[in-house]
Amino acid sequence: MASKLAIQGGTKVRTKPYPKWPMAGKEEEDALIRVLRSGTWGCTQGSEVGKFEAAFAKYQDAKHGIAVVNGTVSLRLALMASGIQAGDEVIVPPYTFLATASSVVEANGTPVFVDIHPDTYNLDPDKIEAAITPRTRAIIPVHVAGLAADMDRILAIARRRNLTVIEDCAHAHGATYKGRKVGAIGDMGSFSFQSSKNLTSGEGGIILSDNDTVAAMCRSLHNCGRVEGGTWYGHRNPGGNYRMTEFQGALLSCQLVRLEEQAVTRDANGLYLDKKLAEIPGLQPMARGRFGETRHAYHLYMFRYDPDTFGGATREAFCKAVSAEGVPCCGGYPVPLYRQPLFAEKHFGPFTGYRSTRPEMDYANVSCPVCEQACKAACWITQSVLLGSRADMDDIVAAVAKVYENRAELASVR
Ligand SMILES: Cc1ncc(COP(=O)(O)O)c(C=O)c1O
Repeated sequence: MASKLAIQGGTKVRTKPYPKWPMAGKEEEDALIRVLRSGTWGCTQGSEVGKFEAAFAKYQDAKHGIAVVNGTVSLRLALMASGIQAGDEVIVPPYTFLATASSVVEANGTPVFVDIHPDTYNLDPDKIEAAITPRTRAIIPVHVAGLAADMDRILAIARRRNLTVIEDCAHAHGATYKGRKVGAIGDMGSFSFQSSKNLTSGEGGIILSDNDTVAAMCRSLHNCGRVEGGTWYGHRNPGGNYRMTEFQGALLSCQLVRLEEQAVTRDANGLYLDKKLAEIPGLQPMARGRFGETRHAYHLYMFRYDPDTFGGATREAFCKAVSAEGVPCCGGYPVPLYRQPLFAEKHFGPFTGYRSTRPEMDYANVSCPVCEQACKAACWITQSVLLGSRADMDDIVAAVAKVYENRAELASVR
């Protein structure tokens, strides 16, 4: 009989903590003090944000980078730069963070939810065409958990239907699709540098693009509508002050130096976990490599849990038991986005064009069965855990295997 579960008073598989996040050292300290002492804290006078924008765009294989205050604003500005008009529809997946769809509402558009693929939880290209109407203007594929969406197929549909593609790369710093980094594979890409992200300055975001025209519009929108070569009090476009500070720029440049090595470690550990966890009955890692994704950024290590194989124990009981063994694990997005009150009850205020163009749009009737299932089956392990050693990964496998062996006891876990 396997040893008693830690959640029931047994000995933990592991007591050592996993790597802490964020990580910072002398480089970050020096950079922050340098900016502090320079007295130039804003990016309109300084060069730290500009340096970071150029370095990150280059790292992600993009021509332009416009750093902003967060990854929600970057989505909204990218939508605005795409020329979206009141009531235009934007196709989004429902298995994602709020911002992917709320940014559409903020940009005065109407989000249209399209289901995800059961093996990757990324937007399913087979389901996109059926959702396109004469009002559709854009698609926002999310590279969910850090695994690139099926970009060739999404772009083929978008080019045929004249739609803009904005990649939501909030989870995907360093991820590759067919060997190319994500972000400017579509028309624009949006990243977040919020605290949990694989590259962070506490808050922050960036828009990437290879397109000179939309990049110039994003730059204008994030800087109070000013235009290149214009004056301080010359405002041409409906923008605001969404600029990043020099402190963030300097910090992110230091973090960027660490990113590539971290990305390689996460990717290798994720592949290792895929192999090991697939050997445990009732657990199914996500598919990798079937749809053009090459390097996985593993903002999240995600796998599917089958309660039937675990004697009917809930996913929540499973995650609690694994966490109690010393391996932090959680269930992720609890419901598809369209079930959030914002959408289900259309709490859009006066801000959206859906009233005039799609008054019949009723999110309470939307059903994306694969996403519904994903919200019940997915288990997440966060990115910093994947920065551990091979022995640290073996502890994950041991914790999960122990919970499986004790599955009969799990039913009583609340
Ligand atoms: C998929 C996705 N898109 C967008 C965002 C928004 O980023 P931010 O929190 O920086 O506004 C997040 C943040 O968690 C995210 O996970």
